[in-house]
Amino acid sequence: MEFGDKDEKPLNILILAAGLGTRMRSDRAKVLHDLDGRPLIEHVCETALSLKPKKTIIVVGHQADKVRKAVDEAFNGAQIEYATQKRQLGTGDAVTAAKELLSETNSTVLVLSGDVPLIEQKTLRELIAVHKLENAACTVLTVKLENPSGYGRIVRGEGGFERIVEQKDATESQREIAEINSGIYCFDSQKLFHALAKVETNNAQGEYYLTDVPRHMLDSGETVALFLHDRPVEVEGVNDRKQLAAIERMINIETVEKLMLEGGVTFIDPRSAYISATAVIGRDTVIHPNVTIEGDTIIGENCVIRSGTRLSNARVGDNVEIRDNCLVIDSEIGNNCAVGPMAHMRGHAVMLEGAKIGNFVEMKKSRLGKNSKAAHLTYLGDATVGENTNIGAGVITCNYDGVSKHETQIGNDVKIGSDTMLVAPVKIGDGATTGAGSVVTKDVEPGEVVIGVPARSMKSAKK
Ligand code: UD1
Ligand code: MG
Repeated sequence: MEFGDKDEKPLNILILAAGLGTRMRSDRAKVLHDLDGRPLIEHVCETALSLKPKKTIIVVGHQADKVRKAVDEAFNGAQIEYATQKRQLGTGDAVTAAKELLSETNSTVLVLSGDVPLIEQKTLRELIAVHKLENAACTVLTVKLENPSGYGRIVRGEGGFERIVEQKDATESQREIAEINSGIYCFDSQKLFHALAKVETNNAQGEYYLTDVPRHMLDSGETVALFLHDRPVEVEGVNDRKQLAAIERMINIETVEKLMLEGGVTFIDPRSAYISATAVIGRDTVIHPNVTIEGDTIIGENCVIRSGTRLSNARVGDNVEIRDNCLVIDSEIGNNCAVGPMAHMRGHAVMLEGAKIGNFVEMKKSRLGKNSKAAHLTYLGDATVGENTNIGAGVITCNYDGVSKHETQIGNDVKIGSDTMLVAPVKIGDGATTGAGSVVTKDVEPGEVVIGVPARSMKSAKK
């Protein structure tokens, strides 16, 4: 099904995201809280944009600038418009705030909630299809829940839909109703604004409820359809931190199970692994307990990731062992490398095939060549290291002079003695050696051996 066909009304999407989210008890707007490492609003926007609507409009209000910034950063260049709701007077008022942006042509308006992040594109397509089929003024996406507490309930009568009653306005018997309003609807735009004008605030919360719109439509003889969906998880709303944690847990379980069953990944303790839904992990890789894998991390086949390790936007080749308690952020590890325990890679650090870093080694914006090693207690910052080079214990690239950062270049087949200080900018030629405890302040020629403080050539030192 394509939207915007010649004879079709265009599709516009409205995402309600102006509320503070009082129940989160937070200084941060609710839709900016992270789920799977990305703000709630980003999840909803991504799904909305995937439907290729004519317009995508976000109603912002509370912390509007921050919400806009988060969305603009995530969807750089996408056509997203914003409507501002000055005071948060309810979901009905939030839709009214977008009236001007939606009034130019008659359209199908799909309303999404910024706090209902798991809704899937397929479900929305089905909702739109039902809406068209029924030629309805409004179609409400509903589900049945074992515990419907907190949601608006769908009251059905003999003729079908009767009204939506909010939890706070519901009678005892209405609270027994399992079918709830997902907060996701399709509207005919003209009929929507016509009915919205009739909405009043005579309810328990003194707000303009969008949920009153379908009843007003019904009263004017319009058709209100219900689309009862059979996957309640998709419409779980995030209103407090308990719900946020429950959804986070649910996504994680799904991700881990998929990796085990479809990806051939072993989890020693699936309950204690936190894996981003966008991560990729290769076959026969083993993930030990308490591992966190964030963002768009990619891990190859046959790797072992030991306990306590966190990988964030990392790229890991095949046959790599990352030992206990390592932190790898925005960095790359080639095939057959070994890392850790307790190593730290950040700021686009790169290890090429077969390289090794060991205990308490930190690499920042540095490159370690093929089969080179830094086994103990080392800092490599702004450094390039060639192939088959050995960095002894306790070596430091002194890259910062208090004002700016400088580079260290180390060639192939070099031996950097333990406790060497390489005062950048400095170059160490191929095959050179530095003595233990040397402080290298000048470039070292290929094959040269330097010792002492400040380091000088062994030949001249003997004289
Ligand atoms: C709403 C529905 C309820 C439904 C539930 C599903 C109403 C009155 N109730 O309740 O029937 O079961 O969603 O999750 O609509 N917002 C604004 N401006 C406002 C108020 C809210 O933009 O003035 C936004 C919020 O940021 C949020 C969304 O609208 O993204 C829903 O608001 P929320 O307060 O969470 O409504 P619920 O109580 O969950
Ligand atoms: Mg809500």
